Amino acid sequence: MNSRFTTYAAGFIVLSAAVADVRSTLSPGARKEIASVEAEINRIEAQTLVRVGQGSMDRSQQVILLGKLLFYDRELSVRRNEACAFCHMPETGFSGPVSTLNQTTVSYPGSIRSRFSERSPQTHTYASYSPVLHYSEGQGDFVGGAFWDMRATGLQLNSPLAEQAQGPPLNPMEMGLIDAACMVYRASERPYRPMAERVWGAQAFAVKWPGDVKSVCERPGPAATSDLLPVHLAPVDRGIVQATFDQIAQAIAAYEGSEEVNSFSSKFDLVMADKAKFTPEEQTGYDLFRSKATHCNECHRDGGPGEEPLFTDFTASNLGLPANRAIPYYEESSADGFGFTANARGLKFDDTGVGGFLGGPKNPDGKWTSQAKSFIGKYKTPTLRNVDKRPRPDFVKAYMHNGYLKSLEEVVHFYNTRDSLPACKAGDPGEKVSCWPPPEHAETMNRRQLGRLGLSTKDESEIVAFLKTLTDGYAGGK
Ligand code: HEC
Ligand code: HEC
Repeated sequence: MNSRFTTYAAGFIVLSAAVADVRSTLSPGARKEIASVEAEINRIEAQTLVRVGQGSMDRSQQVILLGKLLFYDRELSVRRNEACAFCHMPETGFSGPVSTLNQTTVSYPGSIRSRFSERSPQTHTYASYSPVLHYSEGQGDFVGGAFWDMRATGLQLNSPLAEQAQGPPLNPMEMGLIDAACMVYRASERPYRPMAERVWGAQAFAVKWPGDVKSVCERPGPAATSDLLPVHLAPVDRGIVQATFDQIAQAIAAYEGSEEVNSFSSKFDLVMADKAKFTPEEQTGYDLFRSKATHCNECHRDGGPGEEPLFTDFTASNLGLPANRAIPYYEESSADGFGFTANARGLKFDDTGVGGFLGGPKNPDGKWTSQAKSFIGKYKTPTLRNVDKRPRPDFVKAYMHNGYLKSLEEVVHFYNTRDSLPACKAGDPGEKVSCWPPPEHAETMNRRQLGRLGLSTKDESEIVAFLKTLTDGYAGGK
């Protein structure tokens, strides 16, 4: 008995050490980059705080400023170390700002640094143009919402982005708060509180907090099913907290929808306004992008009558991407030190995208359920604006919901040759060049518009040259 126990105990220690290893792997390079991102977030926050109370601002400017302060505030995460901006920084067009992570894990560690979610942080520039999620009979498609899988529908707050902003604070793999009340409580301790009270009213933080609120909010989520709202509040206080949580989310959405974030100031915009000129290569790339040969602008719409060129139509498609097992989520199959299991299915996890949302408990409309199967493996079309925005030329971005593709060259080569090149064998050195791994979900894959475009290498690089003109802040106009 004693020796069996020892064996078991030793095995357990070895096992848990191995798991701990996988989970805490943040290379020295990643740590260094993270430290500089954190310093930059603090700098932006400090700079923004200076503006509070300066000059005269109308109400909407004040809401945007509040939203910005909330967006760059790491105190709103359980360990007080992770702002929204940690995964969405301006220098990458508000997508993932850590090159080392984009190359490897794709997803970003949460406030509890050993937890990673299953997808890549998408850009949220121009996401404010996404309509409330609806099914369009005409297009035979779902349109709108936020997140890769559209699950922030916008139906409750009439704003997909506001509903989106309520996700990360309570996501155990992201900011990790245990109760929405903790977001309000933490905000009530911040220097922008007086401004928030001027904008939202004196009731915003007038909550009788229980004596243990501080320590409850230091506990990482998720809450136990036996006590889903562990900050114990009287009903009216709970109502205030919910209303303020909604206003926080709306302020963040207002910042995300502001001109500072969506400036329509790319070379493309200047060319359209006749204030700059494409190079011949960019022009040919744009012609290809708009041509029947590529279909690119059928989904990544470049405008039309009464339509802004947003480079998305907010519909969903399955491009036939392979799964990306480099995402640490696949390893998170057992309980961590807090008893939380991120992914009980381990390597069997498959990302079902919009179909998974429609078939799951978060689908708000019973009429949509029957569509779930045909939307398995589909994701919302992202804008291509700022798709090349990066802080330095050797900075690597991760493209697509799972970050499998690492450069615009790879993306265009994938669209061009997904079906014309053979399937890779295990460990094939030609992966991404002369072969492609099988799709994660072949059954709903788009075969009509993509996969065999017949483009030459020169065509591919011309399209890439065009995509690079979509970066905001172009300084070379005439
Ligand atoms: C740990 C990294 C991380 C943090 C922190 C984080 N996000 Fe994200 N964000 C992501 C990921 C990953 C996705 C895509 C998730 C998905 O589709 O399931 C995403 C998606 C989004 C989107 C959707 C864009 C679109 O076009 O649909 C918006 C908007 C956004 N985040 C804003 C925020 C805000 C606001 C916060 C803070 C309240 C925040 N994020 C915190 C990683 C993060
Ligand atoms: C049928 C609709 C459709 C067509 C046609 C299409 N795309 Fe896409 N595009 C998408 C969807 C959907 C995604 C996201 C897929 C995912 O993450 O699984 C995407 C993603 C991308 C991305 C990555 C963006 C990011 O932020 O990760 C780029 C770049 C891109 N497309 C460029 C192109 C180009 C260039 C063409 C033409 C060769 C093209 N697309 C044709 C729907 C389409």
